Amino acid sequence: MAVKKIVVWGASGHAKVLRPIIEGKGLRIVALIDQNKDMESFIPGCPIFPALEELPPEETKNAFFAIAVGGDKGRERLHIHERLCARGLSPVTLVHGAAWVAASARLEDGAQVLGMAAVSEEARIGMHSIVNTNASVDHECLIGQGCHIMPGATLAGCVEVGDFATIGSNATILPRIRIGRGAVIGAGAVVTRDVAENVKVVGVPAAPVR
Ligand SMILES: CC(C)(COP(=O)(O)OP(=O)(O)OC[C@H]1O[C@@H](n2cnc3c(N)ncnc32)[C@H](O)[C@@H]1OP(=O)(O)O)[C@@H](O)C(=O)NCCC(=O)NCCS
Repeated sequence: MAVKKIVVWGASGHAKVLRPIIEGKGLRIVALIDQNKDMESFIPGCPIFPALEELPPEETKNAFFAIAVGGDKGRERLHIHERLCARGLSPVTLVHGAAWVAASARLEDGAQVLGMAAVSEEARIGMHSIVNTNASVDHECLIGQGCHIMPGATLAGCVEVGDFATIGSNATILPRIRIGRGAVIGAGAVVTRDVAENVKVVGVPAAPVR
């Protein structure tokens, strides 16, 4: 059977993290895309292109794609998704072999669950959201699209996270809290109250950054 091909958008550290997960699914990375012209390919024999338009169509026809853009760039990930789908490529969801995703949890297109992360019963991870290394998303949490749950963050049960929000490393969100769209939770924060849209909070208990 022919090996399935995949294009990876982004060639920095996050792409290195995704590579073994992608290859573990039996996919072969045939091209990297990175707008940073100084970036070099870290995969021997795999070309790197500075723009989508330069991707050779014959090599990438019907290929899958993964987006290796981390940080708080959730909106960018969704935009890249639209462009790659328009070229006929298809998104993959990526789950590290050492992560746990409950059978009743739902991962939408392009979602990523990295090593040692846990996604519990009836949780939902939206399109192109990242549950990073060792993060924990407990039962019935609803994570929107383009979110980033950073390494070691803990979301207790029934937490809701709006689209494009980011939860910093080792932050803790208490049960049933609602995090608004585009909100930013600082590293190590303990969130005890709902956070409004586009508000940035830090500290224990978390309060808006002045
Ligand atoms: C919350 C955060 C987004 C704020 O970034 P910022 O807008 O650039 O804010 P600044 O660095 O200007 O800091 C503003 C104030 O908040 C404080 N602060 C920033 N982050 C803080 C945090 N995590 N906890 C407590 N205080 C924090 C700063 O000390 C500063 O206080 P001051 O005004 O008294 O000096 C950022 O610090 C953060 O925690 N990001 C998460 C990073 C992370 O987890 N990365 C993982 C990558 S996978």
